[in-house]
Order: sequence, then structure tokens, then C-alpha cells
Amino acid sequence: MEHQVSHRPPPRVLVFPLPAQGPVNSMLKLAELLALEGLYVTFLNTHFTHNRLLLHTDIQARFETYPGFLFKTISDGLPDDHPRSGDTIMEVIHSINSESKSIFKQLLLSNELGTSEGNPLVSCIIVDGIFGGFTTDIANELHIPIIHFRTFGACCIWVNMNIPNVIEAGELPVRGEEDMDRLIKNVPAMESFLRFRDLPSFCRASDLTDPNLQVFVQQTLHSPRAQAIILNTFEDLEGPILSRIRTLCPNIYSIGPLHMQLKRRLASKESSFQSSNSLFEVDRSCMTWLDAQPPKTVIYISFGSITVMKRNQLIEFWYGLVNSNIRFLWVARLDLVAGDGNHAQIPPELLEKTKDRGFIVGWAPQEEVLAHPAVGGFLTHSGWNSILESIVAAVPMICWPYFADQQVNSRFVSEVWKLGMDMKDVCDRKIIEKMLNDLMVERNEEFSKAANKMGRLARQSVHKGGSSYHNLDRLIEDIRLTSSGRFGRQVDIQINK
Ligand code: UDX
Repeated sequence: MEHQVSHRPPPRVLVFPLPAQGPVNSMLKLAELLALEGLYVTFLNTHFTHNRLLLHTDIQARFETYPGFLFKTISDGLPDDHPRSGDTIMEVIHSINSESKSIFKQLLLSNELGTSEGNPLVSCIIVDGIFGGFTTDIANELHIPIIHFRTFGACCIWVNMNIPNVIEAGELPVRGEEDMDRLIKNVPAMESFLRFRDLPSFCRASDLTDPNLQVFVQQTLHSPRAQAIILNTFEDLEGPILSRIRTLCPNIYSIGPLHMQLKRRLASKESSFQSSNSLFEVDRSCMTWLDAQPPKTVIYISFGSITVMKRNQLIEFWYGLVNSNIRFLWVARLDLVAGDGNHAQIPPELLEKTKDRGFIVGWAPQEEVLAHPAVGGFLTHSGWNSILESIVAAVPMICWPYFADQQVNSRFVSEVWKLGMDMKDVCDRKIIEKMLNDLMVERNEEFSKAANKMGRLARQSVHKGGSSYHNLDRLIEDIRLTSSGRFGRQVDIQINK
């Protein structure tokens, strides 16, 4: 991009992520992409998340190399000793939405976000859309352009946008277990395959005033109030759904897969320096183990950063894995199992058989693992980042969704993109064994073909001339225009209906 020579410093963008692994990872990648193209960035973490990043990564040193890059922290409103692991993330979201409005405004009015000598004031806010309500109120009040980054896929965002219609039509709440396979009629473009069980997990609440369901739906309804929406997706994956969302939010930047976009742009600037954004300590010993395995023989298993399972579910997975005779690399976080430790009272035969063909770590370098030639399949909780990373690496998936958007994502993986299988709401060693065998052996050719094709399209999208490459350039150009006040507004839309 050509820019007029100017003595004004570049625009400063404030980036505020949801404090969970997936969203922090993708927002840091976006922040790095903006910094790489010369924008100034202030990255606002919660104290807790920032301390975890400082403990397990080199972010301070890495981002110092970008002129004008700053980290700032904010309270999440919860006491220091409040638990923040696993699915307590919903408490963090509620707390930030209810407690942070005045702190956020004060920060924007202060000199703390990058107003040291020579640096400009914040000229654009990019916020996780789950905090879209209060941040948009403040941005409008202070006349600062705001963009909502929805860290889910477009498929889930479109479902969220339609949940008020689903409720109004009486399709929610669910009427019981026998109702779970009923097709949902009020999410346009998904009438033929979206069942009740594929709606975001919070829709299973019997009470429609459930706070988790409310935050999911209400915050999404704020999206059209933003100047634009960023989605970590690409047109060849979700084009038809993106078109639907554009009817409500015309200005969408689909710029994913962000991890691949960052790799490409770093490489084009002959800067290959890139490292982890992990909130957990990465155990690289699994890479040596993978090096010793034959090509495409290993199933990689990770349930992301939030999933919590019961001990009996862990045992079912473990038996399914060892009975399948397939080699496996398993990420078992220390807090994966609710209550007791992961390794308490594990039948000795499971530990014995794992020695033969399995490897277990607390946290892995996932992008590298998925790109390793030994990996032939991914058993995933269907978090959006995990799905994109699997797509880029052309690795077929078995999905075992836990919560939030994952129920929608897994339906799309199996029914729309045909990139694998959906094992939602089931945890049985025989089914696990059968699905592993299908993915890695019986139906491997079919899934690998689809995965290779989608992987190619994903990689092309971030090449020069690709849709996501173009959209990122457009985003950066538009942010530059914010300084001159030429950034447009989306359609006005009624919220809280
Ligand atoms: C959360 C929600 O759970 C998910 O539904 C939503 O789509 C995004 O926010 P999370 O559980 O963290 O995400 O899952 P995911 O989005 O898949 O992100 C996990 C990230 O951690 C990925 O980027 C993955 O590469 C990384 N990871 C995971 C590791 O680096 N090592 C691991 O061992 C496991």
C-alpha cells in the first residue's frame, strides 16, 4: 500500500480481547499484523491474563520490536483469588460486562493508552464482540470508531443473530431430550441441517433468561452498532453465511485464518520470528516423540483451554484410544478433569498401553503439532482457533464440542464442510474407537481429500490476491482513514428487541 508522506504519527489502535486462550491468541496475531504494517497498538489484557502470558511467553520482548506497541492491563472486576480456569470464564465475562464500563472510559480519557510524547490518542478500538455493548456506548460517547472482532466463526455469529427469532417463533426452550434432533426452522440458510443439539450450548437452558444465553444473544445484537466487524474466517469457507451477516452488518473484514496470515506476512518481510501466545507452559517433548512416528499415523487430541470433563469421560476416551490401536498424542491439561487430578485412580492397563503408542502432555505447541507429518487426525473440542488450525494443516477432525459456539462449529465440520465427524453428546469407548478407526483408516481417503482441498483454499486466501489478504489491507487502510474522520458507519439497527 502506498501512503502519503506525513509527519503525523500513525493511528493508535486499542485492542481488547476476551481473556481466554483462543481469543487472546487470535487478537495478539491481529495486533501483530497491524503493528507489522506500521500502526501503533495498545493491547489491553486483564491483569490475570497478562501475568500468565508474561510467565509462559516472550511477548514483552517480541512486541517491543514494534514501534509504538504497548501492553496495558485492566481489572476483570473479580477478587484476585477468584478461580479463573476452565468454564469459570463465563463469570469473568459477566464481571467485565458489569464492572468495567467506568474503568474503560477513564482509561480512554487518560494518558495511559499511548499518549506519551509524539504518540497520538486512540483513534480506533477493536474489541471482542462479547464486550460489544458497554464498549460501543463509550466509543460513541467519545466519538472513537469501534470495530467488533467476533472470535467465533461466522456460522455461530449468524445463529446468535437469529436466536431472538428462534425464541419468538417458540422453537426455544427445548421440550426435552426427545426434542434434541428436531430441525430449527428460524435460522435462514441452515434449515436443512441445524438441529436443536447444534445450537450454541447456552440454548439448552430451560429458562430463557439464563444469563449465559442472554450475554451471548444480547452482545451479538450490538454488532451492527459498530463501524465494522472483523471475523477470523475466509470467504471460501463461510462465504454464504458472511453474505447473510452482511445484510445486518455491511462492513465485514474476513481476514482469517489469522495465524496463517501472520506467518505469510512475516515471511514476506523476511521476518520469520514468531513464537507462542500461550497461557500455559508449552511442553515441546511431544515434538521429539512425533518425529519418531510414521507419517499420518497419529491422532492428536486436545480439548482446548476451557473444557472440563468428568473422570468417567476421561476414562471412556482413554479406553477408546488404546482399544483403537491408533497412536495418539493427548493434551491433558492439569485442570481438564473436574475435581480430582487427571491421573488419580487410572486403571494400570491404560497407563501400560499408553506407553506402547501414546504420549501425554499438559500443553503442546498446537500449530506445530498439526503441521507435523506424523499427525493424521485431530480429536478436538471444536474451538474456533483449533478448527482453523486444523483446516490450514489439512488434518481431518473428530469433534467433541463442549460449550458455547462449539456445538455449531462441529455441525459445520461434519455436515457442511465434510471435514470430519461430529461426536457431540456422546462419550462411549466403543463409539470413540469406531470413529477413530473411521477417521484414520476406513474413511481416511474421503476426509483427507476434503481436508486437502479446504487447506489449499485457506492458504490461498492469505496469499497476495487472496480474499483475506485483500480484506486485511482494506482494514488497515480504513483504520488509517479513521484519523481523517472518513470511516463509515454500519446501518442503524434496533437492539434489545
Ligand atoms: C475459546 C472457546 O472455548 C471456543 O469455543 C471459541 O471458539 C474460542 O474461544 P479455546 O477453548 O481456548 O477457545 O479453544 P480454541 O479457540 O480452539 O483455542 C485454543 C488455542 O490454544 C489454539 O490457538 C491452539 O493452538 C492453542 N493450544 C491448544 C495450544 O497452543 N496448545 C494446546 O495444547 C492446546
